[in-house]
Amino acid sequence: MNVNIVKDKAAIAKMAYDIMLDMINSKDEVTLGLATGSSPEGIYELFRKNKPNVSHVTTVNLDEYIGLDAEHDQSYAYFMNKHLFHHLNFKQTFLPNGMNSDFAGECAHYDEILEENTPDLQLLGIGNNGHIAFNEPGMSFELTTNVAELAPATVEANSRYFASHDDVPKTAFSMGIKSIMQAKEILLIASGVGKAEAIKGMLEGPVTNQMPASILQQHPKVTVIIDEDAASLLSKK
Ligand code: GLP
Repeated sequence: MNVNIVKDKAAIAKMAYDIMLDMINSKDEVTLGLATGSSPEGIYELFRKNKPNVSHVTTVNLDEYIGLDAEHDQSYAYFMNKHLFHHLNFKQTFLPNGMNSDFAGECAHYDEILEENTPDLQLLGIGNNGHIAFNEPGMSFELTTNVAELAPATVEANSRYFASHDDVPKTAFSMGIKSIMQAKEILLIASGVGKAEAIKGMLEGPVTNQMPASILQQHPKVTVIIDEDAASLLSKK
């Protein structure tokens, strides 16, 4: 893995944006895998500011809460529309449909979308407990799109966006680890001390589903961009 330790969130956003832009400009048809959460916000701000041409770019998002529609201000569809999709001319954008009550059908449908639109570059954040998308500790590395149960720590972390803890959905449609590993290239970003343990486990720990992001050690092309706080527990720098 190519690990870059930079000064702060702004530096992470700039470096990640430049990598994504290079990919966008590298060919006629591009698929980007996108992520939500606070980590990518600075990258999407740069997209809104610079408005690169993305008319040849298809996007596929990692996950969506079950039970929230695109009008709900905490759904990932709403987040993506607000931060990115309403501002640029993407060719096509895909997220799982959180309102589909046919869970198996929705997972199979999203797997088909991913088969046709395998990301050239997948952007990832990481949870405090090492989750990627909503693949929580203990979930199988063999899963494709699945119904993920949020770990209590994730419900807790994500409750900052909701009126109360009880309002946080406890399940989500999520690309599985197997789906994520299909991406030709992966770009993972993280900042803050809260992520330090997960970053250490991901980079220096054993590959185990107790630390989902550790599987990235087995991907051939991963770039990691973190700030000094997120890197603070690493033994090698
Ligand atoms: C959520 C998302 C993840 C994201 C994580 C970290 O649980 N499903 O894709 O990486 O939160 O979020 P943040 O970037 O806000 O710390």
